[in-house]
Amino acid sequence: MTTTELPRLAILISGHGSNLQAFIDACASGKLLANVSLVISNKPDAAGLQRAARSGIPHTCINHKDYASREQFDAALVNALQAHDADLVILAGFMRILTPVLIEPYLGRLMNIHPSLLPKYPGLRTHQRALDAGDKEAGATVHFVTAELDGGPPIVQARVPVVQGDTAKSLAERVTMQEHAIFPLAAQWFLEGRVALRGTKATLDGAVIPATGIVAETDCPAG
Ligand code: GRF
Repeated sequence: MTTTELPRLAILISGHGSNLQAFIDACASGKLLANVSLVISNKPDAAGLQRAARSGIPHTCINHKDYASREQFDAALVNALQAHDADLVILAGFMRILTPVLIEPYLGRLMNIHPSLLPKYPGLRTHQRALDAGDKEAGATVHFVTAELDGGPPIVQARVPVVQGDTAKSLAERVTMQEHAIFPLAAQWFLEGRVALRGTKATLDGAVIPATGIVAETDCPAG
């Protein structure tokens, strides 16, 4: 297969783009058999846009402030995604609430990563909330996106210990390292046809994935 025949990923970001970088690196190393064919940021100053530029990936800013409604913003995203023929859309730190205008055409082809052990802590400040609750572990979850915010069915989850003296920052650093492993892995499973959204459930090799997702490194199937 030549590079141009590989499945096409579109990655939506709002900031630093370390997960975007993990996708770029996974494609370069052959761990992920795909091309990042488009990067879209809703923020003009997102550092992730520079990562895309450095790697020669088409990138653009679609600024949500230029649109009168969430729906109009989402329609502009859909236009760009369709123009680039995206097979899978990856939300990698994309800090916007989506509407059905985007979710419906990409249902089952739209994945997000959330920095908590969903269903715990949807929304913001997840690491501080885990610390405040005295949790012994934290983590991140890759899930299909549905209309429910951070409520779509989980695919894979990475867990890390909370250690003595952790701050939200130190915990976030530990979690983010795991995000970089599990997000490209979930995409690869999807592109191999192993992971799918079936109705309201995510499946792996035809079996329904538990509500916490496949737990990375403990019960990840080989391959
Ligand atoms: C990650 O922690 C991700 O879980 C959350 O936003 C952050 C994005 O980080 N959704 P980066 O921009 O990929 O570095």
